[in-house]
Amino acid sequence: MSKVTEIKHPLISHKLAIIRSKDTGSKDFREIVEELSMLMAYEVTRNLSTEEVEIETPICKAKCRMLSGKKMAIVPILRAGLGMVDGMLRLIPAAKVGHIGLYRNEETLQPVEYFCKLPQDIAERDVIVVDPMLATGGSSADALTMLKKRGAKNLRLMCLVGAPEGIKYVQEQHPDVDIYLAEIDEKLNENGYIVPGLGDAGDRLFGTK
Ligand code: PRP
Ligand code: URA
Repeated sequence: MSKVTEIKHPLISHKLAIIRSKDTGSKDFREIVEELSMLMAYEVTRNLSTEEVEIETPICKAKCRMLSGKKMAIVPILRAGLGMVDGMLRLIPAAKVGHIGLYRNEETLQPVEYFCKLPQDIAERDVIVVDPMLATGGSSADALTMLKKRGAKNLRLMCLVGAPEGIKYVQEQHPDVDIYLAEIDEKLNENGYIVPGLGDAGDRLFGTK
């Protein structure tokens, strides 16, 4: 079974509390989602492999460690996942970026696929799928399936807020994919929204409602 990590950290809780507030507008919402993504990237990349290298400092030769292993790809689920890309790229600037377009049918809550463009060598990369919201888990699970169909093997999922129902669903569908969340919330409401959550992440990021 995959590992679920809730990155409870004072800075993360503080920033998340600001974007949970209905009084936070799109400009601040966008900036804070970017900051949160950068902070989370630190934890999500904790297990990247490193190798010993010899460096010459101004003082002497030194054995240091640098990243080894595979190259990375960040794959946002459109639209809201886009808000997390720049924060991730600030820590992992060499990563390539793929895009998966999915929206949730508001009545059935089932994800509908409309776009997929990935780096050509996705099968050789460590992939981090990003989406602020993990509600029923349908969108994340479908995005992971789309990636696997195109050869991706080493996948992680990073979301800001998740509901226990959605986390369980993704774990069942993708037991090989570790999940990282800023905070795990209480439940889903009757409309499939996360409680307490932060509302519709795409609309709040892009000011579409
Ligand atoms: C939101 C969110 C996730 C999805 C989560 O996207 O960004 O992708 O819902 O819900 P689920 O876990 O129940 O599938 P939405 O469908 O609203 O599309 P948008 O990002 O374009 O607004
Ligand atoms: N999508 C969102 O943007 N928010 C939720 O709470 C659930 C799905």
